[in-house]
Amino acid sequence: MPILGRSLLDTRTLSRNDIDEIFLKADALAPLVNPKDREIRKSNLSMRQPVVCCLFFEPSTRTRMSFQMAAYRLGCQVLTMELSAGSSLSKGETLTDTVLNFAAMRPDVLVVRYGTSRELDDLLPTLNIPVINAGSGTMAHPTQGLLDAYTLRSEWENLKGKQVLVFGDVLHSRVARSGFDVLTKLGAKIGVTGPERMMPQGPQRDALGKEFDLKFFETLDEGLPWADAVMGLRVQLERHEAKELDLEFASDYHDRYGLSEKRLELLKPGAVILHPGPINHGVEFSHGIVRDARSRVLAQVTNGVTVRAALLDLILGLGIGGER
Ligand code: CP
Repeated sequence: MPILGRSLLDTRTLSRNDIDEIFLKADALAPLVNPKDREIRKSNLSMRQPVVCCLFFEPSTRTRMSFQMAAYRLGCQVLTMELSAGSSLSKGETLTDTVLNFAAMRPDVLVVRYGTSRELDDLLPTLNIPVINAGSGTMAHPTQGLLDAYTLRSEWENLKGKQVLVFGDVLHSRVARSGFDVLTKLGAKIGVTGPERMMPQGPQRDALGKEFDLKFFETLDEGLPWADAVMGLRVQLERHEAKELDLEFASDYHDRYGLSEKRLELLKPGAVILHPGPINHGVEFSHGIVRDARSRVLAQVTNGVTVRAALLDLILGLGIGGER
Protein backbone atom coordinates (compact mmCIF):
# COMPACT_ATOMS: atom_id res chain seq x y z
CA MET A 1 0.00 0.00 0.00
CA PRO A 2 1.45 3.45 -0.89
CA ILE A 3 2.56 5.67 2.00
CA LEU A 4 0.58 8.57 0.49
CA GLY A 5 -2.08 9.71 2.99
CA ARG A 6 -1.22 7.09 5.60
CA SER A 7 -0.59 7.61 9.32
CA LEU A 8 2.52 6.33 11.07
CA LEU A 9 1.63 5.45 14.64
CA ASP A 10 3.90 2.42 15.03
CA THR A 11 6.66 0.89 12.92
CA ARG A 12 4.70 -2.36 13.07
CA THR A 13 2.47 -0.97 10.31
CA LEU A 14 5.50 -0.59 8.01
CA SER A 15 6.50 -3.37 5.65
CA ARG A 16 10.10 -3.96 4.61
CA ASN A 17 9.18 -2.30 1.27
CA ASP A 18 7.82 0.77 3.09
CA ILE A 19 11.08 1.14 5.02
CA ASP A 20 13.11 0.83 1.81
CA GLU A 21 10.87 3.44 0.16
CA ILE A 22 11.35 5.89 3.05
CA PHE A 23 15.12 5.37 3.00
CA LEU A 24 15.36 5.81 -0.79
CA LYS A 25 13.34 9.01 -0.49
CA ALA A 26 15.64 10.10 2.36
CA ASP A 27 18.67 9.48 0.10
CA ALA A 28 17.09 11.66 -2.57
CA LEU A 29 16.17 14.41 -0.10
CA ALA A 30 19.39 14.45 1.94
CA PRO A 31 21.16 17.07 -0.20
CA LEU A 32 18.00 19.20 -0.25
CA VAL A 33 16.99 19.13 3.41
CA ASN A 34 20.51 19.13 4.83
CA PRO A 35 21.96 21.26 2.04
CA LYS A 36 25.55 22.32 1.73
CA ASP A 37 24.62 24.36 -1.33
CA ARG A 38 21.85 26.94 -0.79
CA GLU A 39 21.07 27.16 -4.49
CA ILE A 40 20.36 23.45 -4.77
CA ARG A 41 17.75 23.72 -2.04
CA LYS A 42 16.13 26.85 -3.45
CA SER A 43 15.79 25.40 -6.94
CA ASN A 44 14.18 22.16 -5.79
CA LEU A 45 11.59 23.22 -3.27
CA SER A 46 7.92 22.96 -3.99
CA MET A 47 5.91 26.16 -3.90
CA ARG A 48 2.88 24.32 -2.53
CA GLN A 49 2.61 24.91 1.16
CA PRO A 50 0.93 22.10 3.09
CA VAL A 51 0.46 22.75 6.81
CA VAL A 52 2.15 20.42 9.29
CA CYS A 53 0.65 20.70 12.77
CA CYS A 54 2.91 19.58 15.64
CA LEU A 55 1.32 18.83 19.03
CA PHE A 56 3.88 18.07 21.72
CA PHE A 57 2.29 17.06 25.03
CA GLU A 58 5.70 15.89 26.35
CA PRO A 59 9.02 17.75 26.17
CA SER A 60 11.22 17.30 23.10
CA THR A 61 14.22 18.94 21.51
CA ARG A 62 15.38 16.72 18.63
CA THR A 63 12.05 15.32 17.42
CA ARG A 64 10.13 18.59 17.65
CA MET A 65 12.81 20.74 16.03
CA SER A 66 13.70 18.21 13.34
CA PHE A 67 10.06 17.78 12.30
CA GLN A 68 9.86 21.56 12.03
CA MET A 69 13.16 21.75 10.17
CA ALA A 70 12.12 18.96 7.79
CA ALA A 71 8.75 20.61 7.15
CA TYR A 72 10.32 24.01 6.46
CA ARG A 73 12.93 22.45 4.17
CA LEU A 74 10.09 20.91 2.16
CA GLY A 75 8.38 24.28 1.86
CA CYS A 76 5.56 23.40 4.31
CA GLN A 77 4.01 25.74 6.86
CA VAL A 78 4.32 24.61 10.49
CA LEU A 79 2.07 25.17 13.50
CA THR A 80 3.42 23.93 16.83
CA MET A 81 1.81 23.63 20.25
CA GLU A 82 3.95 22.60 23.18
CA LEU A 83 2.76 21.26 26.52
CA SER A 84 0.12 23.49 28.04
CA ALA A 85 1.86 26.82 27.50
CA GLY A 86 -0.69 29.27 26.16
CA SER A 87 -3.24 26.58 25.40
CA SER A 88 -6.57 25.61 26.92
CA LEU A 89 -4.95 22.48 28.41
CA SER A 90 -4.12 24.81 31.31
CA LYS A 91 -7.88 25.43 31.68
CA GLY A 92 -8.53 21.70 31.95
CA GLU A 93 -9.23 20.85 28.32
CA THR A 94 -8.49 17.17 27.69
CA LEU A 95 -5.84 15.85 25.33
CA THR A 96 -8.57 14.24 23.24
CA ASP A 97 -10.46 17.50 22.83
CA THR A 98 -7.22 19.32 22.01
CA VAL A 99 -6.34 16.83 19.28
CA LEU A 100 -9.90 16.83 17.91
CA ASN A 101 -9.86 20.62 17.70
CA PHE A 102 -6.55 20.69 15.86
CA ALA A 103 -7.75 17.96 13.50
CA ALA A 104 -10.90 20.03 12.88
CA MET A 105 -8.70 22.84 11.56
CA ARG A 106 -7.74 20.37 8.82
CA PRO A 107 -3.96 20.58 8.69
CA ASP A 108 -2.41 18.31 6.06
CA VAL A 109 -0.69 16.17 8.69
CA LEU A 110 -0.64 16.00 12.50
CA VAL A 111 2.57 15.16 14.39
CA VAL A 112 1.81 14.16 17.98
CA ARG A 113 3.97 13.35 21.01
CA TYR A 114 2.31 12.22 24.22
CA GLY A 115 2.84 10.20 27.38
CA THR A 116 0.92 7.05 28.25
CA SER A 117 -2.68 7.68 27.12
CA ARG A 118 -5.12 4.97 26.08
CA GLU A 119 -7.47 7.75 25.01
CA LEU A 120 -5.02 9.06 22.41
CA ASP A 121 -3.90 5.55 21.41
CA ASP A 122 -7.54 4.89 20.51
CA LEU A 123 -8.31 8.30 18.99
CA LEU A 124 -5.35 8.88 16.65
CA PRO A 125 -6.02 5.99 14.25
CA THR A 126 -9.61 7.20 13.82
CA LEU A 127 -8.75 10.72 12.61
CA ASN A 128 -9.37 11.40 8.94
CA ILE A 129 -6.01 13.10 8.42
CA PRO A 130 -2.56 11.44 8.49
CA VAL A 131 -0.96 11.35 11.94
CA ILE A 132 2.70 10.75 12.72
CA ASN A 133 3.55 9.48 16.19
CA ALA A 134 6.46 11.58 17.51
CA GLY A 135 6.86 9.32 20.56
CA SER A 136 4.08 7.81 22.70
CA GLY A 137 4.54 6.67 26.31
CA THR A 138 6.89 3.71 26.57
CA MET A 139 5.46 2.05 23.48
CA ALA A 140 6.55 3.57 20.17
CA HIS A 141 8.76 6.20 18.58
CA PRO A 142 8.60 5.19 14.92
CA THR A 143 10.59 8.02 13.36
CA GLN A 144 13.41 7.48 15.88
CA GLY A 145 13.48 3.78 14.99
CA LEU A 146 13.67 4.70 11.31
CA LEU A 147 16.38 7.33 11.70
CA ASP A 148 18.53 5.05 13.84
CA ALA A 149 18.32 2.31 11.21
CA TYR A 150 18.95 4.87 8.45
CA THR A 151 22.08 6.00 10.29
CA LEU A 152 23.37 2.42 10.40
CA ARG A 153 22.43 1.89 6.76
CA SER A 154 24.53 4.99 5.90
CA GLU A 155 27.39 3.21 7.66
CA TRP A 156 27.09 -0.24 6.12
CA GLU A 157 24.64 -0.07 3.15
CA ASN A 158 23.03 -3.32 4.32
CA LEU A 159 22.06 -4.26 7.87
CA LYS A 160 21.60 -7.97 7.19
CA GLY A 161 23.43 -9.97 9.86
CA LYS A 162 24.76 -6.87 11.64
CA GLN A 163 24.67 -7.09 15.42
CA VAL A 164 23.25 -4.14 17.35
CA LEU A 165 23.55 -4.05 21.13
CA VAL A 166 20.94 -1.89 22.91
CA PHE A 167 21.75 -1.20 26.55
CA GLY A 168 20.21 0.61 29.50
CA ASP A 169 16.62 1.40 30.38
CA VAL A 170 14.99 -0.97 27.87
CA LEU A 171 11.85 -1.34 30.00
CA HIS A 172 10.80 2.32 29.70
CA SER A 173 12.12 2.97 26.19
CA ARG A 174 9.78 3.61 23.27
CA VAL A 175 12.90 4.06 21.13
CA ALA A 176 13.92 0.46 21.88
CA ARG A 177 10.60 -1.01 20.79
CA SER A 178 10.47 0.83 17.46
CA GLY A 179 14.20 0.22 16.93
CA PHE A 180 13.86 -3.52 17.50
CA ASP A 181 11.07 -3.64 14.94
CA VAL A 182 12.77 -1.68 12.15
CA LEU A 183 16.22 -3.23 12.66
CA THR A 184 14.77 -6.74 12.69
CA LYS A 185 12.85 -6.08 9.46
CA LEU A 186 16.13 -4.97 7.87
CA GLY A 187 17.84 -8.20 8.92
CA ALA A 188 19.91 -7.00 11.90
CA LYS A 189 20.32 -9.09 15.03
CA ILE A 190 19.53 -7.36 18.33
CA GLY A 191 21.26 -7.85 21.68
CA VAL A 192 20.05 -6.20 24.89
CA THR A 193 21.43 -5.66 28.36
CA GLY A 194 20.67 -3.47 31.35
CA PRO A 195 20.00 -3.47 35.07
CA GLU A 196 17.33 -5.95 36.14
CA ARG A 197 14.83 -3.28 37.19
CA MET A 198 15.11 -1.60 33.78
CA MET A 199 14.70 -4.78 31.74
CA PRO A 200 11.40 -6.49 30.94
CA GLN A 201 10.83 -9.47 33.21
CA GLY A 202 8.83 -12.71 33.09
CA PRO A 203 6.23 -13.06 30.31
CA GLN A 204 6.99 -9.55 29.00
CA ARG A 205 10.66 -10.48 28.52
CA ASP A 206 9.71 -13.79 26.91
CA ALA A 207 7.26 -12.11 24.51
CA LEU A 208 9.67 -9.34 23.49
CA GLY A 209 12.56 -11.81 23.21
CA LYS A 210 10.52 -14.07 20.96
CA GLU A 211 9.04 -11.29 18.80
CA PHE A 212 12.44 -9.82 17.94
CA ASP A 213 14.67 -12.87 18.52
CA LEU A 214 16.57 -10.85 21.15
CA LYS A 215 19.87 -12.02 22.56
CA PHE A 216 20.03 -11.14 26.27
CA PHE A 217 23.45 -10.36 27.78
CA GLU A 218 24.03 -10.42 31.54
CA THR A 219 26.45 -7.49 31.43
CA LEU A 220 27.54 -4.71 29.09
CA ASP A 221 31.08 -6.12 29.17
CA GLU A 222 29.74 -9.39 27.79
CA GLY A 223 27.76 -7.70 25.01
CA LEU A 224 30.25 -5.12 23.74
CA PRO A 225 32.64 -7.51 21.92
CA TRP A 226 29.61 -9.01 20.10
CA ALA A 227 28.34 -5.69 18.74
CA ASP A 228 28.82 -4.01 15.36
CA ALA A 229 26.89 -1.07 16.80
CA VAL A 230 26.05 -0.18 20.36
CA MET A 231 23.10 2.01 21.28
CA GLY A 232 22.81 3.56 24.74
CA LEU A 233 19.36 4.34 26.10
CA ARG A 234 18.63 7.15 28.51
CA VAL A 235 17.58 6.28 32.04
CA GLN A 236 14.00 7.59 31.77
CA LEU A 237 13.63 8.90 35.30
CA GLU A 238 10.34 10.63 34.51
CA ARG A 239 8.85 7.15 34.04
CA HIS A 240 10.40 5.70 37.23
CA GLU A 241 8.99 5.91 40.73
CA ALA A 242 12.14 7.70 41.98
CA LYS A 243 12.18 10.71 39.67
CA GLU A 244 15.44 12.29 40.80
CA LEU A 245 18.88 11.33 39.64
CA ASP A 246 20.94 11.34 42.82
CA LEU A 247 24.71 11.37 42.53
CA GLU A 248 25.14 8.03 44.25
CA PHE A 249 22.72 6.37 41.80
CA ALA A 250 24.40 8.04 38.80
CA SER A 251 27.89 6.98 39.78
CA ASP A 252 26.85 3.42 40.69
CA TYR A 253 24.85 3.10 37.46
CA HIS A 254 27.75 4.38 35.40
CA ASP A 255 30.23 1.98 37.04
CA ARG A 256 28.01 -1.02 36.43
CA TYR A 257 26.04 -0.27 33.28
CA GLY A 258 27.54 2.84 31.63
CA LEU A 259 29.69 3.11 28.50
CA SER A 260 33.09 4.46 29.57
CA GLU A 261 36.36 5.04 27.69
CA LYS A 262 37.68 1.87 29.34
CA ARG A 263 34.73 -0.18 28.11
CA LEU A 264 35.19 1.17 24.56
CA GLU A 265 38.31 -1.02 24.42
CA LEU A 266 35.97 -4.03 24.33
CA LEU A 267 34.38 -2.92 21.04
CA LYS A 268 35.26 -4.53 17.71
CA PRO A 269 37.28 -2.41 15.29
CA GLY A 270 34.83 -0.45 13.15
CA ALA A 271 31.96 -0.64 15.66
CA VAL A 272 29.90 2.54 16.01
CA ILE A 273 28.08 4.18 18.91
CA LEU A 274 24.53 5.56 18.91
CA HIS A 275 22.26 7.27 21.41
CA PRO A 276 18.83 8.72 20.57
CA GLY A 277 19.31 11.56 23.10
CA PRO A 278 18.94 13.30 25.40
CA ILE A 279 22.02 11.84 27.10
CA ASN A 280 22.57 11.67 30.85
CA HIS A 281 26.34 12.29 30.77
CA GLY A 282 28.10 10.41 33.54
CA VAL A 283 25.23 7.89 33.70
CA GLU A 284 24.72 5.80 30.55
CA PHE A 285 27.66 7.47 28.73
CA SER A 286 30.82 8.95 30.23
CA HIS A 287 31.42 12.55 29.28
CA GLY A 288 33.77 12.02 26.31
CA ILE A 289 31.82 9.34 24.44
CA VAL A 290 29.83 11.65 22.17
CA ARG A 291 33.06 13.19 20.84
CA ASP A 292 34.69 9.79 20.24
CA ALA A 293 35.42 9.14 16.55
CA ARG A 294 33.09 6.12 16.67
CA SER A 295 30.12 8.16 17.89
CA ARG A 296 27.30 8.73 15.37
CA VAL A 297 25.12 10.63 17.84
CA LEU A 298 25.05 13.88 15.89
CA ALA A 299 24.73 12.03 12.57
CA GLN A 300 21.52 10.58 14.05
CA VAL A 301 20.23 14.13 14.55
CA THR A 302 21.07 15.15 10.97
CA ASN A 303 19.47 11.95 9.68
CA GLY A 304 16.42 12.71 11.81
CA VAL A 305 15.71 15.73 9.61
CA THR A 306 16.25 13.67 6.46
CA VAL A 307 14.08 10.72 7.46
CA ARG A 308 11.27 12.93 8.78
CA ALA A 309 11.39 14.95 5.55
CA ALA A 310 11.18 11.69 3.57
CA LEU A 311 8.17 10.57 5.54
CA LEU A 312 6.39 13.94 5.23
CA ASP A 313 7.13 14.01 1.50
CA LEU A 314 5.72 10.51 0.98
CA ILE A 315 2.65 11.04 3.16
CA LEU A 316 1.86 14.39 1.55
CA GLY A 317 2.74 13.23 -1.96
CA LEU A 318 5.04 16.21 -2.52
CA GLY A 319 7.33 14.40 -4.94
CA ILE A 320 10.36 16.50 -3.97
CA GLY A 321 13.67 14.83 -4.82
CA GLY A 322 11.97 12.73 -7.49
CA GLU A 323 8.76 10.68 -7.59
CA ARG A 324 8.95 6.99 -6.65
N1 CP B 1 15.31 11.22 20.72
C1 CP B 1 14.29 12.03 21.09
O1 CP B 1 13.12 11.69 20.96
O2 CP B 1 14.70 13.22 21.60
P1 CP B 1 13.70 14.38 22.05
O3 CP B 1 12.93 13.86 23.25
O4 CP B 1 14.57 15.56 22.39
O5 CP B 1 12.77 14.65 20.91
